[in-house]
Amino acid sequence: MKTMREDGFALASGALTDGFREALLAGLAQCPKKIPCKYLYDAIGARLFDEICTLPEYYLTRTENALLRSHAAEISALGGPDVEIMEFGAGSGDKIRILLNSLHRPRAYMPVDFSDTWLDRLAERLRMDYPALQVHPVIGDFTGRLRWPLAPGGRRLGFFPGSTIGNFTPLEARKFLSAAAAILDRGALLIGVDLAKDPAILHAAYNDRAGITAAFNLNLLSRANRDAGADFDPSRFFHYALYNPAEMRIEMYLISAIRQKANICGRSFAFSEGEAILTEYSYKYTVDSFQELAASAGLISRKFWCDPKGLFSLHWLESR
Ligand code: AVI
Repeated sequence: MKTMREDGFALASGALTDGFREALLAGLAQCPKKIPCKYLYDAIGARLFDEICTLPEYYLTRTENALLRSHAAEISALGGPDVEIMEFGAGSGDKIRILLNSLHRPRAYMPVDFSDTWLDRLAERLRMDYPALQVHPVIGDFTGRLRWPLAPGGRRLGFFPGSTIGNFTPLEARKFLSAAAAILDRGALLIGVDLAKDPAILHAAYNDRAGITAAFNLNLLSRANRDAGADFDPSRFFHYALYNPAEMRIEMYLISAIRQKANICGRSFAFSEGEAILTEYSYKYTVDSFQELAASAGLISRKFWCDPKGLFSLHWLESR
C-alpha cells in the first residue's frame, strides 16, 4: 500500500527519517537541556502512552471519549453529511471510530502522522470496518506545511483530539491553528482541550502510582541509546513532573540523579547532580482563554462541551 507524503509524493514504508539524533544533539547543547516531546513516541513510547490513557489518574482520554459519545447527535448535525476528515496525529484509532460512528456518511478520512507504521496499520483496519470510507494516510509533521490531498469538493473537518494542542507553546498553538484554519477552507475543527484545574488532580495525572508516565518519560533515554547511538544509563535519571500554575502548564523533566556524562556519536554531555532535561510541556486552558487563542488564529467558536466536573473541553470551531 502507498502512503502519501504531505508534499504529495508516495513514500516507501519506513523511509521517513525523523531527525531524532540531530534534535538530541541540538537540545542537549542548550541550557537548560531539552528534547522535543514528539520523540517520546517510538513504538515503545506509543504503547506506554496507550497505557497512560487507561490509568485511573489520567482522566483526559476517558473524559474526552465520553464527551464525543454523549454529544454525537449534535456533532453529527454540525458536521452534516459527506464530510472529509483530516486527523492531526493518529493514535490507536479509538477516537476516530467514535467520530465516524456519529457522523452521517463520512466520505474520507486522512490521518496525518510522522510514523508510517502506525498509519498503515490504522488505515488497513479502518478500510475493513468502513468499506464506504476513502482512507488516505498522510505521512508528515502536521506542525509543518500541509495540503489537502483530495480534489476540492466536500466539506472539510479537522479533528485534533487528546489535548495534543497542549503540548505546543501558545505561540506554536496559534501557528498550528492558523495553518489548520487555512487548510480547512471554511470547514470546521473539532478539538479536545484539557482545562486548568486543581493542581492536585493534574499532579496525579502526570505522576501515576503505577509509574507508567515515569517509564514513558525515561524511555526517551533508552530510545536515544537504541536509535541515536547514545549511552545513557536510564537508571541514573528520574521522572519529575509538576504543574506550574503561573504558566498554566505541566512541565515534565528527566533529572540526573548523580553527576555523570553521556556520549552521543562521539559528543560528550555532562550532567550535574539534579540537572534537568525538559521533555514536555502540557498547557492547560480555560474555555475563554482557548476560544481567544482560536479566534486570534481565525477560528470562531460555534459550540463547546465540557464534562460536569469541568475537567476537559471539546470545541467546534469554524474557519471563516
Ligand atoms: C499527548 N499529550 C496530550 C499527553 C499530555 O497529557 O500532554 C502526553 C502525556 N505526557 C505525559 N502523560 C501524557
